[in-house]
Amino acid sequence: MSIRTGLIAIAVASVITVSPSFASDGLDLAKKSGCLACHSIENKVVGPAWKDVSEKYKGDAKAKASLITKVASGGKGTWTEITGGVPMPPYSPRVSDADIETLVDFILAL
Ligand code: HEC
Repeated sequence: MSIRTGLIAIAVASVITVSPSFASDGLDLAKKSGCLACHSIENKVVGPAWKDVSEKYKGDAKAKASLITKVASGGKGTWTEITGGVPMPPYSPRVSDADIETLVDFILAL
């Protein structure tokens, strides 16, 4: 392989690795916003596993709005059996409304 083709191959490979998929965008945003201190996709940490959240609200048309409110304003009581009653902290205005919506869409799509 010539140096030139080598460089092109590297350039193409890096475009592929950084090209944002919805999943890695959502996860990056969750990481940046501090959510992953208490949540993971697959497992309960302090809060419920996000896969379980998605499962719980499958087919519930009102879930998106109610989860946006929950992430923005915090709350407790929904997952007490799993969390022992620890509250979900409020994230507005630390995290913008647009980012909260992106996070909720990401979680519900899991
Ligand atoms: C300090 C720990 C903590 C952090 C940080 C945290 N959460 Fe939570 N989260 C919880 C707990 C505990 C619950 C369960 C609350 C309950 O029982 O109603 C929860 C519940 C949730 C739920 C389900 C709510 C419901 O009513 O079913 C969603 C969605 C959620 N969190 C998203 C997020 C997002 C997005 C972030 C980051 C912006 C975040 N959480 C950061 C602890 C946390």
